[in-house]
Amino acid sequence: MSPPATTSGAGSLTPVEPGGTGVGTSGGGALGPLHGKRVVLGVCGGIAAYKAVEVCRRLADAGALVSPVLTEGATHFIAPLTFTALAAEPARTSLFGPDGRGDLASPVPHVALGRSIDAVVVAPATARLIGSYSAGISSDLLTATLLATRAPVLICPAMHAEMWEHPSVQDNVALLRRRGVHVLDPAEGRLAGGDYGKGRLPDAHEIVAALATVLGHRSGPLAGVTAVVTAGGTREALDPVRYIANRSSGKQGYAVAAELVQRGAAVTLITSSPLAPPAGTEVIGVESAAEMEQAALAAGDGADVIVMAAAVADYRPAVTADQKLKKTGAPVTLELVPTADILAGLCARRRPGQVIVGFAAETAAGAELVALGRAKLAAKGADLIVANEVGTAGVGFGQDASRAVIVSEHSAEDLGVVPKRVVATKLVDTIETLLSPAASRRPRDARCQTPDAKGRN
Ligand code: CTP
Repeated sequence: MSPPATTSGAGSLTPVEPGGTGVGTSGGGALGPLHGKRVVLGVCGGIAAYKAVEVCRRLADAGALVSPVLTEGATHFIAPLTFTALAAEPARTSLFGPDGRGDLASPVPHVALGRSIDAVVVAPATARLIGSYSAGISSDLLTATLLATRAPVLICPAMHAEMWEHPSVQDNVALLRRRGVHVLDPAEGRLAGGDYGKGRLPDAHEIVAALATVLGHRSGPLAGVTAVVTAGGTREALDPVRYIANRSSGKQGYAVAAELVQRGAAVTLITSSPLAPPAGTEVIGVESAAEMEQAALAAGDGADVIVMAAAVADYRPAVTADQKLKKTGAPVTLELVPTADILAGLCARRRPGQVIVGFAAETAAGAELVALGRAKLAAKGADLIVANEVGTAGVGFGQDASRAVIVSEHSAEDLGVVPKRVVATKLVDTIETLLSPAASRRPRDARCQTPDAKGRN
């Protein structure tokens, strides 16, 4: 069994309308997580540099005080003056100003900048910037600021697909993620020169929403709460190339993880899904039920909340062949053996105050769905079961909507057919009420490792 890979997730986000960041302050609502925050917007030299102007504008609209820092390469694509016109401070381009003291009124401008800010977002980030940052090489004001700051950093790579896929770039990105840097995966689409592939800078509203999540997860009603969420369908290997799987996409688990992060929880996402993980999550990639069990039991012990949204295989092949199985023409009988019930195992070792949630995917509806959910609640010993209908067109596995009922020992909240993020919102509302007041009052560092204690930003 390969060891689970751990990364910090900063991929997909809680959906936001293309027209807005979802983090602005207009409309008379509460101030968003970016309001009043000092943000360095790093811009590297790539064709996507023009999109950074829109990022700058949206950050300013959300109330952030933006300090643009352009690399020398960026100035070939876009003028610093454009950013100066939109941001709170003039765009900076160099460690060394005409007087040799730099652009800032400080002999050490990168340190001054790095110390005074709440976050850095680099959009677009080139392979060079990613390489320099991961290697600790400071060659300009932007890389120097990245190395000098202890504020959270969001990197938004954009480059040609071949460059993005290159092992050295992938290794550098993985190293940054291990150090707690948030990396927003590039989008797929048309690239410079008419090529197509993965490497596009995500849209400005996604970048701003990701930064809001990175900043927002440090505050909120669940600040100080640690949560473990599992997502996706497991794969049980038959041989090196074949496996038994199910149709689960991981969308529901990801929506729950994103909702918990947005409310301030520190979330470990144990996932077998290929989807980009929500920003701000600590990601453990797994494949089989056994790997998921190992990761869930290890992470679950310290968690206040555990949500088992994964579709864990109930059976696995009794034997996994080392070599690819060859066809013989004769019928084949597979011997399957049960996997461990992870949810039941977690409930059996639950510590006081822990809230544990399971899911039940059922080809049933109405009262029968509630009854099946309640039976599963009792059988596993969970606090809540989200019973949801599968096998009906438009809802369930792989879909964006769900027909779900949140079942507890004494209640059943029928949500009807709703987007999975609404299921997540309602579920996390219920989880909040179940967390004991004592648990939610405890300071974060008394309950879990803080990001700093883990060596993250
Ligand atoms: N689960 C688990 N470990 C397993 C199987 C399931 O932790 N080996 C969890 C799932 O993550 C989910 C819940 O248990 O939260 C689902 O319960 P289960 O009874 O296993 O549901 P099904 O797999 O649908 O089983 P059945 O076919 O008996 O309904």
